[in-house]
Amino acid sequence: MEIQKNKPLDDLNTFGINVGAQYFAEVTSVDEFGELMQLEVYKTNKKLILGGGSNILFTDCVYGIVVKNSIKGISVVSETETEVIVKANAGEMWHEFVLWCIERNYAGIENLSLIPGLVGAAPMQNIGAYGVEIKDVFQELEAINLVTGESVKFNLNDCEFGYRESVFKNKCKNKFFITSVTFKLTKLSSPKAIYKFKTDYGDIKNTLSEMRAYDLSIKAVSDAVIQIRNSKLPNPKELGNAGSFFKNPSISKQQFDELVLKYPVMPSYPQRDDSIKIPAGWVIEQCGWKGKVVGNTGSHKSQALVLVNYGNATGKEIWNLALEIQKSVKEKFGIEIMPEVNVV
Ligand code: EPU
Repeated sequence: MEIQKNKPLDDLNTFGINVGAQYFAEVTSVDEFGELMQLEVYKTNKKLILGGGSNILFTDCVYGIVVKNSIKGISVVSETETEVIVKANAGEMWHEFVLWCIERNYAGIENLSLIPGLVGAAPMQNIGAYGVEIKDVFQELEAINLVTGESVKFNLNDCEFGYRESVFKNKCKNKFFITSVTFKLTKLSSPKAIYKFKTDYGDIKNTLSEMRAYDLSIKAVSDAVIQIRNSKLPNPKELGNAGSFFKNPSISKQQFDELVLKYPVMPSYPQRDDSIKIPAGWVIEQCGWKGKVVGNTGSHKSQALVLVNYGNATGKEIWNLALEIQKSVKEKFGIEIMPEVNVV
């Protein structure tokens, strides 16, 4: 196994931040990870597991060892007449996996089309878009304890999924190397399968009708999602970004009632626990940040929640902008917005 020293990470994070890792290893199989674990350089250094680099902001060089997960492979574990259990290894590109499912008419993740990143990173923050989260189709995942090397399975409960949350962002943070994720999907080719496409969120219905997709299909829903994402979210290959920089905050009913008197058009989503979710993009726009360029960085013109790198931004510059935005939202609305991106 090759251990690289002073490895540049600019191509390995979608913000395109130009930092280096002290040590770097790419792992293409579970056995290879086992080999890596035997090396002194692994045992004696701080570890950072990197997936697609699409939800991370590097504010400094990484001291220690960066391990890139490149374990590939997708397979059907079992199936019934109407359902299929599919296992995807953690190093598969998420969107490639979605396309693999669409080709086979396996439904459940078509709304999650075009999300950047790798399969292994998807459960970390319970990726979600257009009314679907991976917890809705999640079966289990396999992971290796970074210190003991023990293989562990996590089922749905073990993962403690929440909105952009999981056990891997909390008590299991930096403790596991996820090797595969298994999903339970619906076989639309089966006449007995019962499945309802999720088209209620945002612009999906409008986009489908603009596309003249009168017969709903898994491909049509995926194409609509791709069209919406392309119209709002900058392509990280063209403009460095990590999607939504902040999570949508939840506020109390009382705070909402006070705010809505002042801002009657404020969008809001009531939650089951009586709290109210407010789109961070809206409050950031109201604070005047949308489309604003600050040095080499800024808030995107089509979606204020996305911070971008216009060229040579450093991670610190982007982080400073994030702090400015956070402060102004707190001052104007009394709402604390928290990063969704992993800031290291
Ligand atoms: N809005 C504004 N101004 C903006 C952006 C949004 O007023 O600049 C308003 C919109 O008009 C709408 C509301 O905010 O009323 C929600 O906007 P949108 O549908 O674009 O979704 P979002 O809440 O901003 C979330 C996810 C996205 C996901 C979309 C679609 C989070 C933090 N973000 O964004 O996820 O694609 O919903 O489901 O939950 C990501 O995590 O990286 C990501 C892109």
